[in-house]
Amino acid sequence: MKQIVVSGMRPTGKLHLGHYLGVIQNWVQLQDKYDCYFFAADWHALTTKYDKTEDLRQNTLDVIMDWLACGIDPEKSVIYVQSLVPEIAELNIYLGMITPQNWVERDPTLKDMAKILKTKEGQGQQINYGLMGYPVLMSADIMMFNADFIPVGIDQVAHIEITRDIARRFNNLYGEEFFKESKPLLNNCSLICGLDGNKMGKSFNNDIKISDTAEETSKKIMTAITDRSRLRKDDLGHPDECEVAFKYWKIFGSEEEVQTVRTECEQGQRGCAQCKRQLGEKINETFAQIRERRKYYEEHPEIVEKIIEDGSARAREKAREVLTKIRSLVKMY
Ligand code: TRP
Ligand code: SF4
Repeated sequence: MKQIVVSGMRPTGKLHLGHYLGVIQNWVQLQDKYDCYFFAADWHALTTKYDKTEDLRQNTLDVIMDWLACGIDPEKSVIYVQSLVPEIAELNIYLGMITPQNWVERDPTLKDMAKILKTKEGQGQQINYGLMGYPVLMSADIMMFNADFIPVGIDQVAHIEITRDIARRFNNLYGEEFFKESKPLLNNCSLICGLDGNKMGKSFNNDIKISDTAEETSKKIMTAITDRSRLRKDDLGHPDECEVAFKYWKIFGSEEEVQTVRTECEQGQRGCAQCKRQLGEKINETFAQIRERRKYYEEHPEIVEKIIEDGSARAREKAREVLTKIRSLVKMY
């Protein structure tokens, strides 16, 4: 029996290279070693975007198409949409009953989200009951499949701590060591910065999407920040102060290529425009196959929908088993 991995993403739209390098690549590798459950957390998206649901369906499709294109394989992993597994909502109710209010109030990630909501950007929104329940719902996601490991970024670790606490409390209350204490597997979430040198993010307008075309990518790369002290192409460059372009070379180039770029830059034999043109080509090479697959799925949405339907049915089957056991432990009718 393989150990179980569960992870999800809020469907916020098309994913970028940061998601690929930091999260998806990792998921792809986990697929061979574990029984993996990967889902679009559309209920979690609702905790803050309940008043803006018109893009939710398309965003969910986009996220899942990106996963598939990158090599998340429906033959190996269970790929589903959270809200298509209503058993999770029932488990959420049981877990909500046994979670002390101050456990969720303490959650630092939630505190951060609440802060953002109160700012102008969040239009001074109140924190709703559903958002307070974010970590409990996340615990339900995880405990629904009695996961051993949760691949997440560092910002989610506090949520997993709460999950472990809730699992322990459930086991104590209902008299059986049923739930495992799931452990986080840390993703490397800061592998790549945005084109402007800040954290890569859709809302900062500094990202390259997995689904961008080669032309779009090349154009974006030309805007990447370089060594600011360099004005002419034969000025001697400082690759280590080249804020973005050289960092990207280190991610996407071979050791040999990086060495060549470094030497030519330092000796003033390589202009930044030329350098970034080459870099764009390099990145496009890396993503050529992924983008081809992405396009295939875009042109065949019925295949994606079938994958979601089948995956969600598989997830439900497993969830029902677990829920039957939970109902009997809680002594529901
Ligand atoms: N909160 C996670 C995020 O924003 C998404 C998520 C929801 C999740 N449920 C989960 C991740 C369960 C791992 C396991 O990225
Ligand atoms: Fe950066 Fe390349 Fe310009 Fe050197 S030549 S500063 S590595 S973009």
